[in-house]
Amino acid sequence: MHTQWIEQNEILDRIYHPEDIKAQGIRYNALIEKFTQWTGNRDYLIARAPGRVNIIGEHTDYNHCPVLPCAVDRDIIAVFAPAEDGKITVADFVDKYGVREFELEPEIPSYPAGDWGNYIKAALQGLLNDKALSPGSESVKGFTMMIHSTIPAAAGMSSSSAMVVLSAIAALHVNHTKVPPLELAELMARAERYTGTQGGGMDQAAILLGEKDKALKIDFAPLKCELTPFPGDYQILIAHSTVQAPKTREVMDKYNRRSIECRLAAALIGAHEKDRGRPSVSYMGELTPDYEAADVIRPEGYSKAEIREILGISKEELDRSYCLRKDGSVFPEPEEGFLLYKRALHVISEWKRVEESALRLKEGNIQELGRLMYASHTSCRDNHEISCRELDELVDCARQHKSPGARLTGAGFGGCTVHICRNDKLDGYRKDLENCFYRKVLGQDSAEGHMFTVYPSEGARILKGKG
Ligand code: GLA
Repeated sequence: MHTQWIEQNEILDRIYHPEDIKAQGIRYNALIEKFTQWTGNRDYLIARAPGRVNIIGEHTDYNHCPVLPCAVDRDIIAVFAPAEDGKITVADFVDKYGVREFELEPEIPSYPAGDWGNYIKAALQGLLNDKALSPGSESVKGFTMMIHSTIPAAAGMSSSSAMVVLSAIAALHVNHTKVPPLELAELMARAERYTGTQGGGMDQAAILLGEKDKALKIDFAPLKCELTPFPGDYQILIAHSTVQAPKTREVMDKYNRRSIECRLAAALIGAHEKDRGRPSVSYMGELTPDYEAADVIRPEGYSKAEIREILGISKEELDRSYCLRKDGSVFPEPEEGFLLYKRALHVISEWKRVEESALRLKEGNIQELGRLMYASHTSCRDNHEISCRELDELVDCARQHKSPGARLTGAGFGGCTVHICRNDKLDGYRKDLENCFYRKVLGQDSAEGHMFTVYPSEGARILKGKG
């Protein structure tokens, strides 16, 4: 057995909840053991990237409006070693996802949409594009890696960005290259677009900059993080809606539609402001949280033709600047038109809620934070339209059972809800959710695996490195 590293190490105390340390030790040791059996290499390195839960600030990041997430103790851990031939080979401990292997080249061809290997490729392509690793250089090393994840996939807890960040820190480490975390967070946010999502930078920033027991208020353009302690007398409970939200083309289109609509809303607002001699606007985050979008955008949907006319641009320019998918196809006009007002209403009101939530969290006013979380869910449901029946039912159960706050978390369209619960009420509250939601949906008493607590945890790191 090759179990020395974990037994002699206090690193786990820094990351995990005291009750979880023993199980984590076993987990790390099993991964080390399997990696050394697989590769015959006992000279291994270890890295970790956490998932994240977003407390409030949904679909605001790609508008450069703030968010309030925390990195959590659900994570992907990796045992790896440099590969002198420049190849990247990644296997999964439980062998559910198969092995992915590719060469580093200036333009790395992607796997089919939705393939998990694209998250590894996204990181490497991003580092090559940014010249953090030199493309075409014979001396660029790859890595051979085995991973184990405790972040539920397709659940809104950022398992994909964790894989991106994990791949990046491993590649940088084996190539003796350092990129400061704030810079790496921005780089990886751009890099993840390789997979086809037109996302913002929340996940990569939370994953890289998180700290134990703290939530992060993140501002964008420029990227800035402020840490606030999460009160020790409350728990963060995650409850899965039982609806998977994998990043298939369909879900990606739903997400990207919001991103497109938000940029179009900003463009319309920008045109209006410019007519009044004010500075131009590319993102809603350049406005203020009190901005009245209703004065500029009407509630009914807009056609592409109308938008072109207002912006004074050609069909080609509209499609190229706003509606292009990664594969080069053009995003079609939705039947009801682009719903610019609803999206702007969500983003600007959510921005205000995030600012207020950050202040309430600092004061330890969880009741008020919770009220804002419920309001956020309502806006996610009615204005941004990213909820689903099961997510709504879970949040309704939370209201009935007087959780201080609950809402969907992450991209939406399924996945998880986040609930805030007093430590001494947790057991009762879990039972309440079982009775109120899971019994009906799953047809059984136990909601095993669907509900779990998470603790704010530190950001992605090399835990055992070289030099
Ligand atoms: C996904 C994206 C993030 C963010 C959230 C929604 O997690 O990766 O950039 O937009 O959805 O808040």
